[in-house]
Amino acid sequence: MKDVKVLFVSSEIEPYAKTGGLADVSSALPKALAAGGVNIKSVMPLYSSVNREKFGLKKIMDSACVHMGNCEEWYSVYHTDKPYGTDVYFIEFNKYFDRNGIYHDASGEFADNPFRFSFFCRAAMQTAKDMGFQPDVIHCNDWQTAFIPYYLKCGEDGYFWGTRSVLTIHNIGYQGNFDAGALEYAKIYLADFNAGAFESFGRLNVLKGGIAFADKITTVSPTYAGEIMGPIGSGGLHDILRARKNDLSGIINGIDTDVWNPQKDNLIEARYSVKNYAAGKKANKKKLQKMFDLSDSPNVPLFGFVGRFAAQKGLGLLSGAIERAVNSMVCQVVILGSGDEDAQWYFGGLPAKYPGTVGAYIGYDETRSHMIEAGSDFFLMPSLYEPCGLNQMYSQVYGTLPVVRATGGLDDTVEQYDEATGAGTGFKFYDISPGALYDTMGWAVSTYFDRERHMDLMIKRAMEKDFSWKKPAESYMELYRTLHY
Ligand code: ADP
Ligand code: GLC
Repeated sequence: MKDVKVLFVSSEIEPYAKTGGLADVSSALPKALAAGGVNIKSVMPLYSSVNREKFGLKKIMDSACVHMGNCEEWYSVYHTDKPYGTDVYFIEFNKYFDRNGIYHDASGEFADNPFRFSFFCRAAMQTAKDMGFQPDVIHCNDWQTAFIPYYLKCGEDGYFWGTRSVLTIHNIGYQGNFDAGALEYAKIYLADFNAGAFESFGRLNVLKGGIAFADKITTVSPTYAGEIMGPIGSGGLHDILRARKNDLSGIINGIDTDVWNPQKDNLIEARYSVKNYAAGKKANKKKLQKMFDLSDSPNVPLFGFVGRFAAQKGLGLLSGAIERAVNSMVCQVVILGSGDEDAQWYFGGLPAKYPGTVGAYIGYDETRSHMIEAGSDFFLMPSLYEPCGLNQMYSQVYGTLPVVRATGGLDDTVEQYDEATGAGTGFKFYDISPGALYDTMGWAVSTYFDRERHMDLMIKRAMEKDFSWKKPAESYMELYRTLHY
């Protein structure tokens, strides 16, 4: 793939800025593509939260300019000389990115988000041009970059006439839905503000416009690709997705095995491999119990949860099942998350109600997330929907068996436990109900106590699964090849 040039555009890239799995993917996928020979450069906004010193950011372009509506917007471009993975360029524009928060602050979503991200899309393209990097493909991610397929198709700039677009949908729950006030600034012609493109119920729907104009559309698991073509899973976009179905595919995410690897992980108490997992997990469990003020009980099954407190993650199922479980079974639970205020209040209050049995940390914390993966016996992911999900893959390679609702990528990446043979890598349930989660936690607890040999078989099988980016990156390369002519 030496000859294929890709500009990868994302609103968040780990370790510079992250709110969820998009950042992990935007960091690890370009790295895997570069390893496969793709000539790739990434672009993201320079939020004020990005640590310029730590990551060695240097200004490489001053007074760069794009035209938005009737204005000229002048910005700068930064680049890091200590690349974490691949080459990343940062767009500095204080009017839009020098504020607390990436998409919102404590008072809600930023009202000017369509202005911020349409500008970012133009500036990302302009940066490629200013650097003389003429991409064969611009790989866009989620609504924040979904203006680009349209800008390419409008063909205003001859520099990009040979450039094609791939739009990856990481989560159809976030479509970039706004009033139509940004159309002029974003340079969307009124003729394209229609139900087959950017318009949805009289409002601007950026993701919908991206889907209409992208050359190829992908999403992050095969099962989710099917789900978003149906009325229930599509957030209203099933008609346009069905219309584009020949260009839509599901490519499962991978995991960054440099970061999520129990043999190399410096954030955990004890490193381990499949050969010595019992001793390694025991030491990590002890430390985890201490971190979360749980009683030091090596033989009590411990369930972990890490995630955004958003309805998508099945918080109603968790709240309905956890208290029942700790009241009726021998088990412990640790929770790490932040987001929805009511959820923070509820989950944050559980340790006081169940001291020594339930632990919670409200906030974002890398070390605790790695410790939960390493020290728990089971990992809870009862999502209502899950485009891919990364934590269930992290937990499997750490020998922590996932308890998941069988949806999207969770269904694709977890193998159901077979009680007759001990096959499988986790426990799946189907109903959206706290009772179904509770029953499945019970199934896990009974397996822990009564079928030790099966636990051992499942842990080994889970730890040996290949979730690396190698195969998914090959699928993306194959897709780029179909566009590169
Ligand atoms: P989503 O992108 O929908 O949030 P994913 O499972 O794809 O879900 O990715 C979530 C990522 O964010 C994982 O890397 C997870 O460990 C991380 N994460 C979420 N919440 C927290 C938190 N409170 N502290 C640390 N990491 C978190
Ligand atoms: C989204 C999805 C999650 C997916 C991630 C990365 O945030 O909610 O399921 O793993 O994007 O693709």
